[in-house]
Amino acid sequence: MDRSFFVRAPAKINLGLTILRRRPDGYHDLESVMQQVSLADVLLFELLPTKGCRFLCTDPDLSGKDNLVYRAAAMLEDQAGKVLPGVRITLFKNIPVEAGLAGGSSDAAAALLGLNHCWQLGFSKTDLMGIAALLGSDVPYCLHGGTVLARGRGDKLEKLPDLPFFWVVLALPRGVSISTAAAYNSFDRELLGKPEIRPLVDAIKRSSKKDIINWLARDFTNTLETAILPGSDQVGELSSKLRALGLKPVLSGSGPALFMMFDNYNLARSAARAVEEESGRAYLCWTITGDEE
Ligand code: C5P
Repeated sequence: MDRSFFVRAPAKINLGLTILRRRPDGYHDLESVMQQVSLADVLLFELLPTKGCRFLCTDPDLSGKDNLVYRAAAMLEDQAGKVLPGVRITLFKNIPVEAGLAGGSSDAAAALLGLNHCWQLGFSKTDLMGIAALLGSDVPYCLHGGTVLARGRGDKLEKLPDLPFFWVVLALPRGVSISTAAAYNSFDRELLGKPEIRPLVDAIKRSSKKDIINWLARDFTNTLETAILPGSDQVGELSSKLRALGLKPVLSGSGPALFMMFDNYNLARSAARAVEEESGRAYLCWTITGDEE
C-alpha cells in the first residue's frame, strides 16, 4: 500500500428538500434529492512511524478535535478495538463551511474511506454506512455519492439514475454561515410536507433535463427556505437580485448556498459573473456521478 494518498470529498446540493415531520428524537423526517458536484475538499493520508492520528486543516479554525474528520477517525479506531498505525490527515478545504453543501459530512465520509484503506480494517460499505450515520445525517449520503433520494433523517438512501450532466453555479452571500440545527428549528411548520418531491424524482427517472430544469424554476423547492435566520436577509437579497436578471437560484440544504443549473457552459459562466457582480461568491462546477469518486 502507498504510504500516502489523496481522497476527494465532493460537495452536495439538494435539488429538492421536503420536511415531513418532527421526530421524537428531535430530528426531522425528510425527503430530499441529493446530488454531488465537482467542487471538493481533498484529504491527504500519510502513514507515520509513530502511533496515533494527527489532523491538520488548511483552515486553522477547523483544525480542532471537534472536526468531523477527527471524530470519524476516533470512531473507527473505537470500532476496530485495537491500536492502529500512526497516520496524519491533512484536509485541504475548498467547500464553504456551514453553507448547506455538506462539506464537513463529505470530509467525514472521505476520512472513513481513507482510514479503512490505510489501516487495512476491512470494514464493508455496509459497516461504514452504520458508522457514518452515527457521525451525522448527511454522512451516509456522502459515502454513497451520486444521485439519491434520501429519506428518514437523511440516512435512508434510495439510489436514483445518475442525473444527466449539468453545469452548476454555486452562489454564496459573503460572510454568511447558517447552522443546520438553527435552520431546522426555525422553518415555517405550516409548510411541512411541501413541496411535493415526486415530480422531481419522476423527472430524474425519465432522465428529462427539461423537467428537471422546470422543477428548479418553481417558486419553492425546499421547506427550509422559510427558515428565518440571521443571514437569511442576505440570502434573500442575493436571490432576488439574481431573479431580477432572469436567473433561477435555488437554496441547497439548510443554506445559505444557492445554486443554478445549466445545460450550456457560456450561460453558466455568465451566471457566475452575475453572482460576483452582485457581491456574492461564485463557484462554477458540474454534476458528477457516484462512479467518478
Ligand atoms: O445530523 P446532523 O448532526 O448533521 O444534524 C445537525 C442538526 O440538524 C440536528 O441536531 C438537528 O437539530 C437538525 N436536523 C434535523 N433533522 C434532520 C437533520 C438534521 O432536525 N433530518
